[in-house]
Amino acid sequence: MRTGANHLFIPGPTNVPERVRQAMNVPMQDMRASDFGELTLPLFEDLKAVFKTKTGTVFMFPGSGTGAWEAAISNTLNRGDKVLMSRFGQFSHLWVDMAERLGLDVTALDVEWGAGVPVDDYERVLAADRNGEIKAVFATHNETATGVTSDIAALRRAMDAVGHDALLFVDGVSSIASIDFRMDEWDVDLAVTGSQKGLMLPAGLGILCVSEKALAASKSATMNRCYFSFADMLKMNPDGYFPYTPPTPYFLGLRASLDLIFEEGLENVFQRHHRLAEGVRRGVHAWGLSLCANHPKWWSDTVSAIVVPPDVDAKAVIKLSYDKYRTSFGSGLSKVAGSVFRIGHLGDLNEVMCLAALASAEMALRDAGARIELGSGVAAAQDWYRQALAADEYSIAAE
Ligand SMILES: Cc1ncc(COP(=O)(O)O)c(C=O)c1O
Repeated sequence: MRTGANHLFIPGPTNVPERVRQAMNVPMQDMRASDFGELTLPLFEDLKAVFKTKTGTVFMFPGSGTGAWEAAISNTLNRGDKVLMSRFGQFSHLWVDMAERLGLDVTALDVEWGAGVPVDDYERVLAADRNGEIKAVFATHNETATGVTSDIAALRRAMDAVGHDALLFVDGVSSIASIDFRMDEWDVDLAVTGSQKGLMLPAGLGILCVSEKALAASKSATMNRCYFSFADMLKMNPDGYFPYTPPTPYFLGLRASLDLIFEEGLENVFQRHHRLAEGVRRGVHAWGLSLCANHPKWWSDTVSAIVVPPDVDAKAVIKLSYDKYRTSFGSGLSKVAGSVFRIGHLGDLNEVMCLAALASAEMALRDAGARIELGSGVAAAQDWYRQALAADEYSIAAE
């Protein structure tokens, strides 16, 4: 296969829509020009709508999700602070690792890979912390390595139930702008994302939304920070400027991607992700395979991690699908390397694109020795998409 498009089904970077790519393809701009704020100031406001906050402050750092993780920690905490985290996949593991390397005193709740944020355990640990020594609670909303979405609203309820006033940090790198996220309603203090997933841009921006409480904490927090300083940003951002050279084409791209999201409607974007994901899941189950997410309550609408049969190497599935069918799937990371491959179904996608992903996966699985019936997953997803789209049309007609 040498002609036509490559099919990108990794959970980020995602497909960049043509309108976004065109928007970024411009002569360089003057980032100190008097009208630069006309481009940047509405971006801060519109990102607030995506985070669903009225009172939060948005920061856009050149970097990626990992940089935004670091910005969240280094601006608001002190070396030696006690924090409560959980680990159930490669990304939640890496955030724990960063927190430890930055000098925090981490209690990490280990959960089997395939489950998510252990809300009851958080509640138990927080209830026992009578002196309020735990300064922050961290949660990974969507664990991209295992395709697990956790219940952040339930975590907030648990924190409130025991009256703990730790800051709540949430990694929304693979959820924000694709799966419903409610900064204000869930009383999240620091939400972190990157540009290359639901926001449909290339990797290059680490984006945070920070509550008033976390911003107040940043005024007295003593951890060293420089490039990622909120205070430096706050000196310039209110006028639309940055303390160093910002990646201006990204702002044009972000303008276009936010326009696309709002034209579709944020809630419709979430529904579409659910519809697409459900088709993929039905396809996987029709093959007789299972998801790494070990209960439907954890199923992620942005990425499905698929467990291959024991006699099949998931790495071979990924290599075959790329080399032979020009379709990229995400690999199994760390503990699940070789036993899992991932279909990323987020960003600029539709039903027929997901059918192509399932068709490629079927061929590659068969090539790698899996005894699945060709067409079975595609047919199951087709059935679902036909029904789901008809229902959608019906509800539009009924409005
Ligand atoms: C949930 C999650 N958190 C953090 C990261 C790290 O983000 P980045 O690769 O943009 O630094 C990723 C990357 O895929 C992720 O999926």
